[in-house]
Amino acid sequence: MILLDGKKTSADLKVEIAESVKELKAKGKKTPHLAAILVGTDGASMTYVNAKVKACELVGFNSTLIDLPEETSEETLLQEIEKLNNNNDIDGFIVQLPLPKHIDEQKVLMAVHPDKDVDGFHPTNVGRMTLDLPTFLPATPFGILELLERYKVETSGQHVVVIGRSHIVGRPMSILMSQKRPAGDATVTVAHSRTKNLKELTLQADIVVAALGIPEFLTGDMVKDGVTIIDVGITRIDDSSKKSGYRLAGDVHFESVAPKSSFITPVPGGVGPMTIAMLMKNTLLACERKS
Ligand code: GUN
Repeated sequence: MILLDGKKTSADLKVEIAESVKELKAKGKKTPHLAAILVGTDGASMTYVNAKVKACELVGFNSTLIDLPEETSEETLLQEIEKLNNNNDIDGFIVQLPLPKHIDEQKVLMAVHPDKDVDGFHPTNVGRMTLDLPTFLPATPFGILELLERYKVETSGQHVVVIGRSHIVGRPMSILMSQKRPAGDATVTVAHSRTKNLKELTLQADIVVAALGIPEFLTGDMVKDGVTIIDVGITRIDDSSKKSGYRLAGDVHFESVAPKSSFITPVPGGVGPMTIAMLMKNTLLACERKS
């Protein structure tokens, strides 16, 4: 069993990105600049956004955090987005999800200019991804492709079962892995909450991508020997034996699945750190595109 080490791979990627930033600077080009909008005080969102800002510092990017109160109106948020769209120094920006309930997420994502949409959530970029045109790939699926590629996991002709059909992970993952591309050329089945006989499907899978958001859902009896496991889930579970009061669980029951796996991502330290590295990569790309 080989651990797909996202912590190490993302650190390698950040070193490569930092090198590219130095090269840009040596050529007198501008420093990449990422902005993030956070609305409200959701604990997980604050943690993620802070990690993104810290990653910017590490690779030598400029960053701007726009921290708005929970009660911010949709109109005010759209005005902030328009300011970032028109600010030439900002190469790319993200609006951290989820948003408060009174704000229409779809409307917000559509307001981000596609050239600055480093999350790859704008319909234009989703369409470009689907058509295999150059675009910003959404960070989590992009990070998974990068991990599979760097560890030389065979995907061509393999049967991939993606559990989950979210716009951020499951759906784009299923599209990307079916395409003719590195870490692609797979035969993909998309399973979700209405799927019948899920175990029958996962038992046939060469690769399982678990992205349904139910902790420790995928157990050892549901996979075949030699399977590759990508665990996208990350849920806080109360645990009084920990100093923090909680532990992090993936969507995969690691203890029973790992012994049957040829490759598996740990939680934490698998897919999570890759997501942030790929956001940096997209921001670098956005900056390079302009010059
Ligand atoms: N919330 C969970 N994942 C993501 C992501 O990739 N981007 C943004 N903006 N919000 C998220």
